[in-house]
Amino acid sequence: MALWGGRFSDAPADAVFALSRSVDFDWRLAPYDLRSSLAHLRVLKSSGLLKEDVASQIESAIRELIDEVAIGKFVAIEDDEDVHSALERGLTEKIGDVGGALRAGRSRNDQVATDLKLFAIDHMMEISQMILELQKSLAAKAAEYGDAPAPGFTHMQHAQPILFGHELAKHIHAFARDLDRIQDWLKRTSVSPLGSGAFAGSGLGLKPEVTAKDLGFASSSANSIDGVSDRDFVAEALFIISMVGVHLSRIGEEWCIWATSEFGWAKVADAYSTGSSIMPQKKNPDMAELARGKSGRLIGNLTGVLAMLKGLPFAYNRDLQEDKEPLFDSIDTLILVLPAVTGMVATTTFDRAKMLAAAPQGFSLATEIADFLVRANVPFASAHEAAGKCVALCEAKKVELHELSDQDFVGVHPQLTPEIRKVLTVEGAIASRTTVGATGGTALAAQLASANSDIKAAEKKLSDQMSSFSAMMGE
Ligand code: ARG
Repeated sequence: MALWGGRFSDAPADAVFALSRSVDFDWRLAPYDLRSSLAHLRVLKSSGLLKEDVASQIESAIRELIDEVAIGKFVAIEDDEDVHSALERGLTEKIGDVGGALRAGRSRNDQVATDLKLFAIDHMMEISQMILELQKSLAAKAAEYGDAPAPGFTHMQHAQPILFGHELAKHIHAFARDLDRIQDWLKRTSVSPLGSGAFAGSGLGLKPEVTAKDLGFASSSANSIDGVSDRDFVAEALFIISMVGVHLSRIGEEWCIWATSEFGWAKVADAYSTGSSIMPQKKNPDMAELARGKSGRLIGNLTGVLAMLKGLPFAYNRDLQEDKEPLFDSIDTLILVLPAVTGMVATTTFDRAKMLAAAPQGFSLATEIADFLVRANVPFASAHEAAGKCVALCEAKKVELHELSDQDFVGVHPQLTPEIRKVLTVEGAIASRTTVGATGGTALAAQLASANSDIKAAEKKLSDQMSSFSAMMGE
């Protein structure tokens, strides 16, 4: 059913209708469209623009549609252009022409922006919940390996020994920033476009601030032209999703490396691995690879929407219809990837013995020698030089640092007394790192305790937000 046509003598050509038609992808906005229709209906009624009996007829029809859409009893058909026209058809099929009264003071332009915001808010909260689950599995894994020494890397080269729990825990903080970004986005997105009409507002004396409150928004658009044309919330959501994707891809890459036979640290559970169709022995970390690979399309969706928005003039333009598929795709993709990564993290075990054996390799204790000299008041530059000489000596003698003799050490620097052996251990090096955020056991325990309490607080806040959103949807 077309929502326009009065001034046209011909129906749209098939190619025009095919290109125009968005109902195949925007149908998922139906529950949000119906809920915002209820809010619009209430304001039409309270403004005296709809008689009581008409309003209650429309209300019951909307409520019936809400139930029928939920169970798939009412669906879009071939002739429907978009979700809005399909639902107006549903209304008029139920109550006749009077269903068309709901369109007063409202345009698909403010309607679609409102629906998409509600959809995005709902799903960004769902994504937050999944991120919290991932953080919990990372925190549990980090605690499990909170006493396991491993080599730490920079430039993919052994750098300094660390606790493996510290390595795993770093990801919790990246996702904490993503959660924070979503909260920040929620605040900025809490502006209702409904009431902006086609773009210039409504002459019917409707109250956008009332529909905004009804729909759980903090305010209504301060400029109706901006109201219908603002898609910052889509672009920003796509950025946040891309950032989450990038964080997931970094986990994916680490898991792939740790699962190689060269490293042999990670044993990915069978349930989170896949096999090869030709090589029977293969067990591949495909979830990690998909986490890494899917981030590409998330970035693609973001750049696609930004390119579509760039240079868009004035108020609503049909280009804006292109905002939905990338947003839906990014949300769906993340909702697929997050639980798989969470499960993979939770079920992977790591080889403590291998990590411990690798920890001192590559002269990773050289910094301890430099720090030892600094504690004896040697300027760091000279200390660094002396530690470097010890490494060069080791390379020449084909030994590790702790295998140098007392004479070797004093030969390099007079202050490298046999006391040096105390710090030349993986355990000693790790334990000496006691500052906030460092890898030492006590610092790591404190880090994990505070991360866990942040997770709890974020969970509580999110669950309140989700309950009030679903209460609003169910009103
Ligand atoms: N399907 C359209 C969209 O997604 C709805 C708005 C159409 N507005 C219009 N003036 N043609 O943007």
